[in-house]
Amino acid sequence: MAEITLRVNGKDNKVDVPSETPLLWVLRDTLELTGTKFGCGAGLCGACTVHLDGNAARSCSTPVSQAAGKSVTTIEGLGAGGLHVLQQAWIDEEVPQCGYCQTGQIMSAAALLAKTPNPTDEQINQAMNGNLCRCGTYERIRKAIHRAAAEGGSR
Ligand code: FES
Ligand code: FES
Repeated sequence: MAEITLRVNGKDNKVDVPSETPLLWVLRDTLELTGTKFGCGAGLCGACTVHLDGNAARSCSTPVSQAAGKSVTTIEGLGAGGLHVLQQAWIDEEVPQCGYCQTGQIMSAAALLAKTPNPTDEQINQAMNGNLCRCGTYERIRKAIHRAAAEGGSR
């Protein structure tokens, strides 16, 4: 076990866990931030996506020790000041079906818009490529990202 300080959604947390513990387990089980989902556990589906220093990262395959000293943002932090423009766009475009993949989709989209405020379809496809949706909501996801971009992008 090792005491690790994790900065999550702007707040420092001390966690006492083995350093190789996946960040996802610490977020969900230790910090009780269950908005981030477990899908494959192998870095293949994107359901567990969070931001590490603003970049999309798969928390299931990131050891917690790698997140120490970085700023972690989860879906709870993204919407902390009211709905993020992407969350509103997701509602307006009625994107989710079962909803399971959608946290990861929104986190990847937010990382994209922060760097590329007006992405093309191709840039969207490339950035969202690793986020799988078994319900096939890809078309609505693209529309929602374009809508959010038109409405101010990364807020
Ligand atoms: S649960 Fe992390 S990529 Fe699938
Ligand atoms: S909405 Fe069901 S997996 Fe994406």
